[in-house]
Amino acid sequence: MLSLQNIAIAYNGVPAIHDVSIDVNEGEIVALVGGNGNGKSSTLRAIAGLNSLASGRIVFGGQDITALQAHRRPALGICLVPEGRRLFPKLTVEKNLMLGAFTRRDTVEIAQSKDYVFELFPILKERRKQIAGTLSGGQQQMLAIGRGLMAKPRLLMLDEPSWGIAPKLVTKILDTIQQINASGLTILLVEQNVKRALEIASRGYVLQTGRVVLSGSGEDLLCNSEIQKAYLGI
Ligand SMILES: Nc1ncnc2c1ncn2[C@@H]1O[C@H](COP(=O)(O)OP(=O)(O)O)[C@@H](O)[C@H]1O
Ligand SMILES: [Mg+2]
Repeated sequence: MLSLQNIAIAYNGVPAIHDVSIDVNEGEIVALVGGNGNGKSSTLRAIAGLNSLASGRIVFGGQDITALQAHRRPALGICLVPEGRRLFPKLTVEKNLMLGAFTRRDTVEIAQSKDYVFELFPILKERRKQIAGTLSGGQQQMLAIGRGLMAKPRLLMLDEPSWGIAPKLVTKILDTIQQINASGLTILLVEQNVKRALEIASRGYVLQTGRVVLSGSGEDLLCNSEIQKAYLGI
């Protein structure tokens, strides 16, 4: 579905990503893991069209989208739930969700998507009239994911969904990500929570200082002694 081919990204001439190649197949959860500052968000932003490439190619659904403007990518089914959630804090839960559907026209299907989001996250239904900025961190993350789903994407990219969230809710959110994937949606998941991410991933890539240093199935990576030493404290 998605193929990053030897991509490089630089900020003001300073390289951040070097020669990164990543594939995401239809139906997978692919985890992109690594510590802070290693280029995970830069990679997701490049797929969304928010960072331009210094070199390399991005192919989505067989189409070269390297030069495609960011605002044209949601229509292809590419959706990024960004780091830090970026909700509209003064708008209600429901308004935030509806803004996720801005590229869509079919009101019946939009209503079905909203029902689906409310089924996944019943607390959002309860609080649909509440102002988003007054939700807890975990609820705001649910809303950010729900807003992403309202775009009816083919590829859902999640940038650190467990960031700043109480441990109990982290489990709930990662379970729900698995559930969303089981219903057929392909997911590219960025996490500093390496163990949790690899547990639910079909495959994973480890980024270190802007390079892929390891890749493999989630299971193999969890058993890898370098990963265990560097990220799992084993
Ligand atoms: N907008 C930006 N301007 C300049 N440097 C940036 C910018 N965004 C990220 N970087 C740098 O690029 C590198 C990778 O950052 P990032 O992709 O945010 O990593 P991660 O998501 O893994 O924490 C870091 O060295 C960071 O300081
Ligand atoms: Mg990041």
